[in-house]
Amino acid sequence: MCGIVGYAGARPALGIVLDGLRRLEYRGYDSAGVAVVCDGDLLTEKKAGKLANLEKALAERSTADDDAVPGIGAGTTGIGHTRWATHGGPTDRNAHPHRARDGRVAVIHNGIIENFAKLRAELEAEGVEFTSDTDTECAAHLLAGELSRLRAAGEPDGPTLLATAMRQVCQRLEGAFTLLAVDAAIPGAVVGARRNSPLVVGRGVGENYLASDVSAFIEHTRDAVELGQDQVVLITGEAIEVTDFTGAPATGKDFHIDWDASAAEKGGYDYFMLKEIAEQPQAIADTLLGRLKENGEIVLDEVRLSDQDLRDADKIFIVACGTSYHAGMVAKYAIEHWTRIPCEVELASEFRYRDPVLDRSTLVVAISQSGETMDTLMALRHAKEQKARVLAICNTNGSTIPRESDAVLYTHGGPEVAVASTKAFLTQVVACYLIGLHLAQVRGIKYADEVAAVVDQLQEMPDKLRELLAGIEPVRELARELKAAPTVLFIGRHVGFPVALEGALKLKELAYMHAEGFAAGELKHGPISLIDQGTPVVCIVPSPAGRGMLHDKIVSNIQEIRARGARTIVIAEQGDEAVTPYADHLIYVPRTPTLLAPLVTTVPLQVLACEIAAARGHDVDQPRNLAKSVTVE
Ligand code: G6P
Repeated sequence: MCGIVGYAGARPALGIVLDGLRRLEYRGYDSAGVAVVCDGDLLTEKKAGKLANLEKALAERSTADDDAVPGIGAGTTGIGHTRWATHGGPTDRNAHPHRARDGRVAVIHNGIIENFAKLRAELEAEGVEFTSDTDTECAAHLLAGELSRLRAAGEPDGPTLLATAMRQVCQRLEGAFTLLAVDAAIPGAVVGARRNSPLVVGRGVGENYLASDVSAFIEHTRDAVELGQDQVVLITGEAIEVTDFTGAPATGKDFHIDWDASAAEKGGYDYFMLKEIAEQPQAIADTLLGRLKENGEIVLDEVRLSDQDLRDADKIFIVACGTSYHAGMVAKYAIEHWTRIPCEVELASEFRYRDPVLDRSTLVVAISQSGETMDTLMALRHAKEQKARVLAICNTNGSTIPRESDAVLYTHGGPEVAVASTKAFLTQVVACYLIGLHLAQVRGIKYADEVAAVVDQLQEMPDKLRELLAGIEPVRELARELKAAPTVLFIGRHVGFPVALEGALKLKELAYMHAEGFAAGELKHGPISLIDQGTPVVCIVPSPAGRGMLHDKIVSNIQEIRARGARTIVIAEQGDEAVTPYADHLIYVPRTPTLLAPLVTTVPLQVLACEIAAARGHDVDQPRNLAKSVTVE
């Protein structure tokens, strides 16, 4: 939610910042802007809408520029922002960067400054005129005010002054923020600050970077520094200096990024989403890699929990949002079945407000692709305050949620750029299975050979997915037929229920169509009245081999809806002929044990939503109003 980039070095900053913004555009695309320090001047450009609008404005500007005066393309210090609007509509004037009244300081921001109304009133009382409706503009005026106060007090000018002023400002701000700032009078330096919003440092040679995530600078360096909470970082071409908000020196944690720039490119696909769907077999294989020790033990990543802690757990809460929440719903079935520990799945945004019963023997599993989702982070913090143990499932190294958790299992899915989550979902589901198996093992409920048998089944999933993806063309054709449907319903039972919810969510977020997922058994308690002549209903059918009763029940449900005019799209296991008479469209998926079935049944639904959205002419990778990483509550 909002992407930010900063660069200090010897090369022209503008191109580097724009490339970084391109990679961060998934975080928001309501507006984009840049500020570059050039020859003692601060040059800015900002535009509402996607990055392309900003690039067009910059191209027009470069044609108009006087060749004798260095233009915005010449400066070697710069910051850039791509916005997901919170305070103030998505207009040019609300686009970042925001300049202070002196016109020499520019600030960009990700997050929400919760006390901005009070700060704004104070600044206005001092005569400051605001030029936007944003909370961010307060930070720009406060920073400029601190800089002039420090200068008036005789403090020597230079990068350190910028960091000192930023620390003073941070002490006055409440809420969540990552801020980056430059001052025209202090060339060669960018200052950053973070509280509850992401910021990483890229360590280059003779140049350094700041960004919301590493993809922004991956093409320049794979050496990064993770920052802690409430820290200020100052970068110049030569140095990276980290302090806390009081000025005490602090150290970031160095890490090496184990994927390269090509992983964040489209690689010949029309959309990132299609590429990421195709990457799912590999993503699952990578998530499973090295998880089973020779003695049969499951390996997590960072574990600051003892086996005894896990043995003591008498209740599990899974907290997550969006697609990650659906992964958690799948996990519940496996975890309860394998561990016999009661497991509840909660929307992270609701969790802390309903005062859940938590104590030392509660294990909270936080699932988040980005590791930065504010709702999930707040749920996690609430759980920790109540002394619960927290285990994170996350795809982003160095992000806040794993850092604040007692144990982490990273899904090695690689960067997911499309806003709609696909490979992250499947790898989260795999990670949940591994955690379920680990718990069962530690508690002595499953023997090593039983765990190994399930891991073997999981190891077969990448090939099954490849087979499924190779035969996916009929789903594309079906998508073209369904593109004008006013509504699409999804039904499933058991682990097919969260799959139905996920299928509906994908269609809503990408195709802007009305879609709803139901537990198939609930249909008769109300939603069945939605079914009209020709209403498409996607039915997720469990394997007849695993749970015969489940299978038969859903076949009955399919008959019920078909009798009422539904057009049935049935997702069933290869060879399941019992469903053939009731399927207007039949999509077969490879045979899979019941609990693992979501790993295959979700995939046709991802493709369906992607293709329907494309057929309706929508931007598949950047659906309207959404952002991939939501760092506000
Ligand atoms: C946003 C995204 C969803 C994602 C959810 C949770 O709403 O648009 O695709 O599932 O956040 O994100 P997380 O990074 O915590 O998994």
